[in-house]
Amino acid sequence: MAGEAEQQLRAYVEYLRHMGIHDFYRRGEPVFLDSVAAVAAETVLPLPVKSAIAAVRVEAPRAVGVSSARVPVPAAVPVAATVSVLAASAAEADADADSVSSRPAFLEPPIAKLVSFDDLAPLPESRVAAPKRVEALAVIRTEIGDCTRCPLAYAGRRSIVFGDGDANARLMFVGEGPGADEDTSGVPFVGKAGQLLNNMIQAMGLKREEVYIANIVKCRPPNNRVPEPVEANTCDQFLLQQIDVVQPQVVVALGATAAMYLLGVKQSLSGLRGRWHSCRGAKLAVTYHPAFLLRDPRQKGEAWKDLQMVMAELGLKAAARG
Ligand code: URA
Repeated sequence: MAGEAEQQLRAYVEYLRHMGIHDFYRRGEPVFLDSVAAVAAETVLPLPVKSAIAAVRVEAPRAVGVSSARVPVPAAVPVAATVSVLAASAAEADADADSVSSRPAFLEPPIAKLVSFDDLAPLPESRVAAPKRVEALAVIRTEIGDCTRCPLAYAGRRSIVFGDGDANARLMFVGEGPGADEDTSGVPFVGKAGQLLNNMIQAMGLKREEVYIANIVKCRPPNNRVPEPVEANTCDQFLLQQIDVVQPQVVVALGATAAMYLLGVKQSLSGLRGRWHSCRGAKLAVTYHPAFLLRDPRQKGEAWKDLQMVMAELGLKAAARG
């Protein structure tokens, strides 16, 4: 198996073990289901996992040969390949007893549902007072702890990259996930893409310390791959709380991944840019990820248009070119 895929699969296996699923091969009565559900009840799980488990509880399988590992794993998780092989053999066993139309629903890969941050949780009834926000962010960081809630904890991460900047910022940037430099330093956007983001912030007439910067996931995905839904859906509860504490006037989603999870829609950037969206009481604008702009600098002009829209909203004047 290629090194990258192997590393990823190992991370997911460790994660499942951490959830209490140790036996990937046992055949027989699926007695594990209640224990999986009990673990799930206590563990902060992404929605697709929870609904997969719920589906299993309702449709308690009669099928022999159902592996415990397969049930709670969302389709998009990289072990899906292994999972679908197992599912196929279980389906064959099922087909002997049942018609295709009575195939239990739990054998179908659960679909990762996209939910916008606005729909993930009700808006807070009261807002954290400005002088209390640093402390409130520290409480969230403490709650995260030495997190093992998702497979990224087992994928070679060095730091949990929480967030950086002014707890009372009017403007918040949200990227995708830490890269190598961020994983080393524990600070978001400090590598090459971070330097470009700093320039963009400066061009808007602001200093980096005046904005707040965070990511959809707080741990580095191996080889900088895009976070899997199970990772983003697990981690987003903390970003959501950070947004609720900071209460920026404007959130800028950097790139398609940030936009997808914040807005709960899977759409091309061109369909999302150039207009306002909403997120946790803030106005949300979508622009290109700085890493993309490094690869295709011709799009910088387009990104600048997005930032000008944000500047108009915040009453900011472009910095004089130095
Ligand atoms: N890319 C991101 O999306 N976030 C970072 O923190 C760094 C690079």
